[in-house]
Amino acid sequence: MSDLRYDGRVVVVTGAGAGLGKAYALLFASKGAKVVVNDLGGGRHGDGSSSKAADDVVEEIKKNGGTAVADYNSVVDGDKVIKTALDNFGRVDVLINNAGILRDKSFARISDVDWDLVHAVHLKGSFKTTQAAFPIFKKQNYGRIIMTASNSGLYGNFGQANYSAAKMGIVGLSSTVAIEGRKNNIHCNVIVPTAASRLTEDILPPELYAELKPELIAPVVAWLCHENCTETGSMIESGAGWAGKCQIVRADGKLMRQTIADGVSVEKVRDSWDKITDMNSMQHMGSIQEATGALMSSLEGLRSGAKGSSSDDSDVYEYNDKDLILYALGVGASVAKPGDLKFLYENHEDFSALPTFFILPALKSTFSVKMDENLIPGKSISFENILHGEQYLEVYEDIAASSNGSFRSEIQLVDKLDKGSGSVLIYDVLSYNNEGKLLYKNQVVSFAVGAGGWGGPRQSDKLVPCVPKPKRNPDTSVSFKTSVDQAALYRLSGDNNPLHIDPNMAAMAGHKVPILHGLCTLGISVKLVMEAFAGNDLKLFKAVKCRFVKPVVPGETLKVDMWREGNRIHFETSVAESNKIVISGSYVDLNSVIAVVKPVQQAATTSNMSLQSDAIFEMIAQKIKESPEKAKSVNGIFLYNITKDGKIVKTWTMDLKSCKIHEGTPKSGKPNTTLTISDDDFVGLATGKLNPQTAFMKGKLKLTGNVMLAQKLGPLLKAAEAKL
Ligand SMILES: *[C@@H]1O[C@H](CO)[C@@H](O)[C@H](O)[C@H]1NC(C)=O
Ligand SMILES: *[C@@H]1O[C@H](CO)[C@@H](O)[C@H](O)[C@H]1NC(C)=O
Ligand SMILES: *[C@@H]1O[C@H](CO)[C@@H](O)[C@H](O)[C@H]1NC(C)=O
Ligand SMILES: *[C@@H]1O[C@H](CO)[C@@H](O)[C@H](O)[C@H]1NC(C)=O
Repeated sequence: MSDLRYDGRVVVVTGAGAGLGKAYALLFASKGAKVVVNDLGGGRHGDGSSSKAADDVVEEIKKNGGTAVADYNSVVDGDKVIKTALDNFGRVDVLINNAGILRDKSFARISDVDWDLVHAVHLKGSFKTTQAAFPIFKKQNYGRIIMTASNSGLYGNFGQANYSAAKMGIVGLSSTVAIEGRKNNIHCNVIVPTAASRLTEDILPPELYAELKPELIAPVVAWLCHENCTETGSMIESGAGWAGKCQIVRADGKLMRQTIADGVSVEKVRDSWDKITDMNSMQHMGSIQEATGALMSSLEGLRSGAKGSSSDDSDVYEYNDKDLILYALGVGASVAKPGDLKFLYENHEDFSALPTFFILPALKSTFSVKMDENLIPGKSISFENILHGEQYLEVYEDIAASSNGSFRSEIQLVDKLDKGSGSVLIYDVLSYNNEGKLLYKNQVVSFAVGAGGWGGPRQSDKLVPCVPKPKRNPDTSVSFKTSVDQAALYRLSGDNNPLHIDPNMAAMAGHKVPILHGLCTLGISVKLVMEAFAGNDLKLFKAVKCRFVKPVVPGETLKVDMWREGNRIHFETSVAESNKIVISGSYVDLNSVIAVVKPVQQAATTSNMSLQSDAIFEMIAQKIKESPEKAKSVNGIFLYNITKDGKIVKTWTMDLKSCKIHEGTPKSGKPNTTLTISDDDFVGLATGKLNPQTAFMKGKLKLTGNVMLAQKLGPLLKAAEAKL
């Protein structure tokens, strides 16, 4: 790399008698520039002038073979300083506004004289010299200007109110000069030095002072003033051999209005403060156009009443009938059930959304929450160690009926609890329509594993609590056999966590196979509750609260126990195959109950989500588990073909050799006996209402294969009957 030179350039340095200014002058002169060494002289308070300081520097430059001239004018007479350059060297290329004085006093004690003097030297001086040089720069289509600000201005400093104000004034001056000079190749930048000089010598501790050599900053300034440097309109902080660019940044912020008709209340500002001051999303605005442009685009969204500013996009949730149908399929709606058609067919006269669909917008809002060290100070939290612990949904308006729509949701962290082993994060998500009307509220309770022990509260009155189930036996129980593809289908509604589809991800999380979404289990459970107690009338839905206890594996059968207490239906969901509880402490609140179901004995056999016979097979399975010897003694494989309206709708394999009952045909080998029977008649057999011989004689039960072997099934069915 070739040396950077300034041959032929004329550089004016103000306040160049000592410190930074002197270092600049010496460096430029050593690299070929002709230098005007401006200094009023005097002590660090700027009083009493003498020509000695400037003369000494000029002397040193000349001794080293350079070219320089002294100037003793005050920078307030900027034109005179520039004139010195023109008179001696015929031009000026670089202006370094470095002159300064201090008047340290606490704010209350600053006199008008102190104020005016500090502003005169720093701000007005920079203005005057720059204004004098600017037309010359313009004419020659070249100029480099440095203004000197201070970290006292950027960050504030006790006792330097006047100085801070003047120094930040310089930043504003530089920003505009840079814009106005751009088309004439005039660059203007601000240096924010931390330097030892007359100005700081008795303010800083000696060790630090020793490292703040002006010679370590001068090269930064020299580069900024080189013809090949393209930087302009910037602030560069530098000291002790370090340099870095400073920028003013702005948070993403928040638009506090939903429509153009809305005002902004003080309370709204208070409630929005976290978002307004959330610097995780900060951005530097390159220009006033960019800054106002971002604001204007958010207002445009306001006017059209639809999507908000780009910064708020993540909080807008739009859906159409296809989304509703996909969700309904994901939580087990089926055309095999006439009552479900209204969730699956957009032209159905009662086409509607399942209430738990409206948890999805809240979930989407939680995805946009930034996980960082600010969430729980000192604890690292990421999505990998976050579990969905509890969910609450309360609906204020009839939203189920609209087949499409758009909501704006606002998420707020309302409380953080310390549970020792982890932290509980409570998020409220309020969803509004385009007119700003509150439609529903979600509360998402997340558990951050391993992020506890920070001394926070253990309880919160913001938390919508779970409620223990009644102590009596359930009023009804309904089963639903999930499909092995349940998670694969459900995830298409927007929960793409690979844990639910990718075997490798599931294994990493400690699961044998990908697990079902807790919200899918919830959706299925609430759908069954609505069928059992609300006649599937979703206008009756008011709220649901649930706690996720354990995961479900797709293919397992869910058993939902329900208890009615007034308009509240308590429910608990377990896996029928293992009796493991997966959702507990949960309830659905209805506006009114329209279908009081019969006691559990009948309820199980009128199970509706799937076939009635499903529950019976589960019970037989359980019975076999309890006494496998009995089953093994039969030593046969039975295939059940269950019919409805004369058609085979489901097949079950009862493998008594290996004591396994599962849906579908035998996994290995052929069945010894196949039994074909309708769903209703199978219930009849199991409940003892239908005699097997009679059924066979009347052709209700068809047997193929080893007919005699079927007789050995009697005791097993009896066992199921006893259970029912
Ligand atoms: C500016 O950069 C160009 C290209 O790198 C180089 O040829 C030229 O010498 C540089 N000018 C000065 C004054 O260093
Ligand atoms: C101005 O601030 C400086 C900062 O030091 C202080 O010393 C001086 O006393 C103040 N006067 C003004 C004007 O602040
Ligand atoms: C059932 O069939 C298998 C062959 O598929 C046979 O080995 C077994 O003995 C049969 N069981 C009875 C009880 O006949
Ligand atoms: C029973 O169902 C299975 C599977 O649908 C089918 O392959 C088989 O032929 C059926 N058996 C009888 C006897 O209907």
